Amino acid sequence: MTFSGVMWLPWRCAPGRVSACAVRRVFTSALRRRSSCSPAAFLPEAAGFQGVKDRATLHEYSLSDSQGFWGAVARHRLSWIRPFDTVQDCDLRQGRIKWFEGGKLNVSVNCLDRHVHTCPERVALIWERDERGSEVRYTYRELLEMTCRLGNLLKRHGVKRGDCVTIYMPTCPLAVASMLACARIGAAHNVVFAGFSAEALAERIRDAQSSIVITMDQGVRGGKVVELKKTVDAAVESCPMVRQVFVGLRTDKPVAMAARDIPMEEEMQKEDVVCEPAVMDSEDVLFLLYTSGSTGKPKGLVHTQAGYLLYAALTQRSVFSYQDGDVFGCVADIGWITGHSYTVYGPLANGGTTVLFDSTPIYPDPGRYWDMVERLKINQFYGAPTAIRLLLKHGDEWVNKYDRSSLKTLGSVGEPINTEAWEWYHRVVGEGRCPVVDTWWQTETGGICIAPKPSEADAEIIPGMAMRPFFGIKPVLMDTEGKTLTSNNTSGALCLAQPWPGMARSIHNNHQRFIETYCLPYPGYFFTGDGAYRSEEGYYQITGRLDDVINVSGHRIGTAEIEDVVNQCPAVAESAVIGYSHNIKGQGVYVFVVLKKNVDVQEADLSKQLNSMVSKNIAKYACPDFIQFVQRLPKTRSGKIMRRVLRKVVERDLDSLGDLSTLDDPAVVQEIIQGHRQLLSK
Ligand code: PRX
Repeated sequence: MTFSGVMWLPWRCAPGRVSACAVRRVFTSALRRRSSCSPAAFLPEAAGFQGVKDRATLHEYSLSDSQGFWGAVARHRLSWIRPFDTVQDCDLRQGRIKWFEGGKLNVSVNCLDRHVHTCPERVALIWERDERGSEVRYTYRELLEMTCRLGNLLKRHGVKRGDCVTIYMPTCPLAVASMLACARIGAAHNVVFAGFSAEALAERIRDAQSSIVITMDQGVRGGKVVELKKTVDAAVESCPMVRQVFVGLRTDKPVAMAARDIPMEEEMQKEDVVCEPAVMDSEDVLFLLYTSGSTGKPKGLVHTQAGYLLYAALTQRSVFSYQDGDVFGCVADIGWITGHSYTVYGPLANGGTTVLFDSTPIYPDPGRYWDMVERLKINQFYGAPTAIRLLLKHGDEWVNKYDRSSLKTLGSVGEPINTEAWEWYHRVVGEGRCPVVDTWWQTETGGICIAPKPSEADAEIIPGMAMRPFFGIKPVLMDTEGKTLTSNNTSGALCLAQPWPGMARSIHNNHQRFIETYCLPYPGYFFTGDGAYRSEEGYYQITGRLDDVINVSGHRIGTAEIEDVVNQCPAVAESAVIGYSHNIKGQGVYVFVVLKKNVDVQEADLSKQLNSMVSKNIAKYACPDFIQFVQRLPKTRSGKIMRRVLRKVVERDLDSLGDLSTLDDPAVVQEIIQGHRQLLSK
C-alpha cells in the first residue's frame, strides 16, 4: 500500500500544515468558554449512561461500551415489531457485520406509519420541481397512501420479499414512494442515478438481477427534457430478466408503451390504500447502491434494514441540530447515497419535513437555492462544494436578494470544501451566524462519520475540516507499513477501527471483493480508501483518495471505468485516465491516449468520438475535459503505467516528478510534458 495516489489540491491545506496555514477558527458563540453541556442535549437517551458528562465523554462511552450505547439508541429511536436479541456480532477481519439480530421491524413503518399515528397532516415532502415556484407538498398521510398503493401494485405484479427493484427516476415523491414501497413489501431497491446512460443502467440492472424497473416518462431538469423512458427502453434490450417497467408521468408528452410497460398512476388508483408491512429481520437487505471502485466494474454496496436506518436517523438529527418542525433541505439527487440517507431515510425516520430538489443550482438563475430557502423556509441546507464554488463565482447579489433568516445549519458533502468556498458559504449564505458542517462519509459508511457537529455550542469549527468523529466512530491513521500512527499532526490512510450500524455489509454477489477492498488492507480495520490528516488538536481533515477513484462534481468515478470505455474504440491501443484539480468541479478528467499503429484519424474527430462513447457508456459527468494523444505512456520495465508521473504533469507539479529511474525510457516524460503544453495552448 502506498500513498502515491494522494492528490494534492492547491486550494487545500497540505496535509500536515493545517495549523500553520492560519485557518480562521469560527466559534458558534461569541464567547469562548468551556461549556459543560449535558449529554442529553446531544442524545436524550444518554441521560442514563454512567460517567457521561459532555460530548467527549459521550463519544468515549460510545466506543468503550458500544453495545450499551447502540442498544439504547436503537431501542429509543426505532419502532420494533420484535426487540433484538443481540446488539452486534461483528468481526472486521472476516467481513462479518451484523447488528440487532433477532430484531424485526419494517423500515416504511418507521418512516411513515408511526408519524401518521401522531401527526398525519404534517408535511413529509416538499417537491421543489424544476419549474420555480411550483412546489408541491405531501403530508405523511398522503405519502403513506401512495406507498401502500404502490406496494400493493408491485405485489400484484409478482414482486416478492427478497426481490430487487431497480428505480431510475429523478428526485420526486413517486421515487420516494417507490423506495418505501419496496421496503414495505420486503423487496430491496436499487436506485440508479437518472443521469446514467442506458449502458450503465443495463449493467446495474443485470448485476442486481432486477425483473422490475420503475421509471418516469420524462424528467425535466434545468428547463430541459430528459428522456428517461427511452433510456430504460434501450437499457432493457440487453436485460432479458426484466419482466415489467412501471412508468410514472411527469410531462404531457406521450411515450411509447410496450406490452411490459405499466402506467403507474393509473394502476395505483385501483389498489388498496392499506398494505400490510412485511416483517423484516434487522439484517435483511434494504437496498443496493452501485458506486465506483478502482476496477472497471461498479460495485453494488449492500445496506441492511435496522442499522442503516438508525444511523441515518441519528446523524441527520444530531449533525445538523434538526428539531421537530424544521424543514430539511438536502439538495442531493436520490440516485446517490446522500439522497438516500439525508433526503429520504434520515429525515423521514425522524418525522421531519424533507425537500426533494429536482432542478439545478443555476436554473433559471444562480439565485435558485436561496429563493427556495426563502420560499420553503428551509432551516438546514445541505449541498455540495462544487455548487458552492459555482455560485460563489456568480457573486453575492444572487444570495442577498433573498431572505435566509430561516437557515440554522449549513452542510457540505461529497468532496473537500476549499477554504474560500467554506468562508463564502459561512459569511454570505449563512450571514456568519450558521455553523457550517463539512461532513465526511461514503456510500460504504451509510451515514456521516466525521463532522464538526454535534459538539458543544461554543466548540470551534475550522473551515474545510470535517474534524470530529461521530458517536461510535473511531478513526485511525495507518502508515505505509500498516502500523497505526498514534501521534497528532500526522497523515495516513484513514481506517475506522470499530464497526458501526450504518456500514455496508457486503458487495452484492461478491462478498470476497468486499473483504479484499475494505477488510484485508489493514486487518481488523475498515479501510476507507481515503487519506487523512490529524491536526495537533486531534481534528481530522480528508486529504483525498488513495486509490484510482476520482471525484468529479462530487460524483465518484473509477479511472478504470473510463479507460475501459476509451479502450473499446477501435483506434485506441491504450489509455490512462487521471484526475486533476478543477476550480469548479473539484476534479476534472484528463485522458492520455495511445493510438494503434497506422491509424489514420483526425485527433479532433477522435476526441469527439471518445467523448460521446463515455457519455453513452457511463454518463455525461464522466466525459473527459482534456484528451492528449501520446506516442507512448510512461511505464516501468515491468510494463506498469506510472500514473504518478502523469498526475504530476497534469497538475503542473514538474519539480516533484520523483524517481524516474525505474521507467523503461525516461525520455517519454519530456514528450508528454511537451504534448501537454501544446494541448493547453490550443
Ligand atoms: O473521497 C471521499 C469523498 O467522497 C468519497 C465518497 O464518495 P461517495 O461514496 O460517492 O459518497 C459521497 C457522499 C457521502 C469519499 O471517499 N468525500 C466525501 N465527503 C467528503 C469527501 N472528501 C472530503 N471531504 C468530505 N467532506
